[in-house]
Amino acid sequence: MKEKLKVILENASKEIKACRKPGEIESSRVKYLGKKGELTALLRGMGSLSPDERPIMGNLVNSAKEEIEALLKAQKERVMVFQKERRLKEEEIDITIPGIRFPRGKKHPLTKTLEEIKSIFLGLGFSMIEGPEVELAYYNFTALNIPEDHPARDVQDTFYINDDIVLRTHTSPDEPRVMEKTKPPIRVIIPGRVYRADDVDATHSPVFHQIEGLVVDEGITLGDLKGTFDLFVKKLYGEHMETKFRPSHFPFTEPSAEIDATCFVCNGKGCRVCKDTGWIELSGAGMTHPKVLERCGIDTSKYSGFAFGMGLDRLTMLKYGIEDMRLLFENDIRFLSQF
Ligand code: PHE
Repeated sequence: MKEKLKVILENASKEIKACRKPGEIESSRVKYLGKKGELTALLRGMGSLSPDERPIMGNLVNSAKEEIEALLKAQKERVMVFQKERRLKEEEIDITIPGIRFPRGKKHPLTKTLEEIKSIFLGLGFSMIEGPEVELAYYNFTALNIPEDHPARDVQDTFYINDDIVLRTHTSPDEPRVMEKTKPPIRVIIPGRVYRADDVDATHSPVFHQIEGLVVDEGITLGDLKGTFDLFVKKLYGEHMETKFRPSHFPFTEPSAEIDATCFVCNGKGCRVCKDTGWIELSGAGMTHPKVLERCGIDTSKYSGFAFGMGLDRLTMLKYGIEDMRLLFENDIRFLSQF
């Protein structure tokens, strides 16, 4: 029996010292000291010993038990230290490792141009609003004095949802929308997407962008339009820029004009971009037609207004020397990241 006890003690000591987890220590405890444990089995077997041997053996078993308990306790403490160390190691943060760099996007050139234009007009006391892209034919045409048989209404140019609803072909429908709701003085710019049934090429896209401008107040004249636009162009492209008006026609303005500006590629000398004229067309414009004002309940004996509508895509292409409009819509990051 003594031999057996010695073996048990040796095994227990080896096993306990190899424990690395609290669960393993508990298993060892059960294995040696539990009800069905090895030491307990040994105690049970003492019935076969002589009365003289029994107390001696009893003492030995008890001190073995104490020894194992002490081993378990010591190992438990060690395991806790191990575990703490391991956790610290696992959770160690190396603050010197460079961070993960996320690629940072850039603003689209159209957005950049719009932001510049917006800040110029906000500086002039304009506010900015937006209108619906799916628009009533009434606002897109009728409220703008565009007659029923006008070619602009043709299905060849306009995307119709049904007879009464279109994808707006310009941002001008937001003019009557504002004028119906707001009493003069009115000073707004209205940027947004517009749609026309055009085929895609270097200068055309079925979706493009316009920025409408509208001013209605007492005593507004063509001089205000010219002064405002001239200042705008100088702020956007530089002080050397000049503007000129060419007579034109729009049903919702009278008189109407196309506004040209100095070609900023050749500074007016003539080049491929301006087709040797020295000028570049920037915007349609004019004095708001009295019929348009009256339809919106504005007293034309007191108020007059001017409006303009310019192509944001074109302004952007000219500003950055982009020769193909498709580049603005293809979203090729290699192209867009240049700006
Ligand atoms: N809406 C016109 C166009 O798309 C431009 C314009 C706007 C003309 C405002 C005059 C006044 O061509």
